[in-house]
Amino acid sequence: MKTTVNHVSGCTGTEEELLQRVRQLASGYKDKEGSLIQVLHMVQSVYGYLPLTVQQIVAEELGLPLSTVAGVVSFYSFFATTPRGRHTIRVCMGTACYVRGGVSIVESLEKQLGIQAGGTTADGVFTFEIARCIGSCGLAPAMTIDDTVYPEVKAADLPSILEPWYCGGK
Ligand code: FES
Repeated sequence: MKTTVNHVSGCTGTEEELLQRVRQLASGYKDKEGSLIQVLHMVQSVYGYLPLTVQQIVAEELGLPLSTVAGVVSFYSFFATTPRGRHTIRVCMGTACYVRGGVSIVESLEKQLGIQAGGTTADGVFTFEIARCIGSCGLAPAMTIDDTVYPEVKAADLPSILEPWYCGGK
């Protein structure tokens, strides 16, 4: 029986169909030198992340060694090799946010989400990461969910900040 795959991007299909799309997409860039990063971005948006199976297909279609593809995937933090949540929470732990309560935000989130920073919740809603500075130091402590910035966050605010995202967004 075929499994239906629901990835972050909203692309759905059987595993076989998604891998076929990945192959078609990558094969369109066969002779285009320097297109690896662009292809990996597109493939990640189709498949949701870049496991080894997917990296292998990209390598085959672009005529590159798997080690080259794997090296690029591991170098850039925006490439994921494990499934991500639909939304990404980033808590800033840069200096300004750290001294103004960032640690308690991280600890509270870990408790509420039931995961450590770096993890993804079992329901697939959130991936939770630590950021080093999100450019909003005057609003410390700050966090983001996808592209939304939350300023001067207090641990007590977290349930009401998270709640709307379970239904698809802010
Ligand atoms: S240190 Fe947190 S936004 Fe800059």
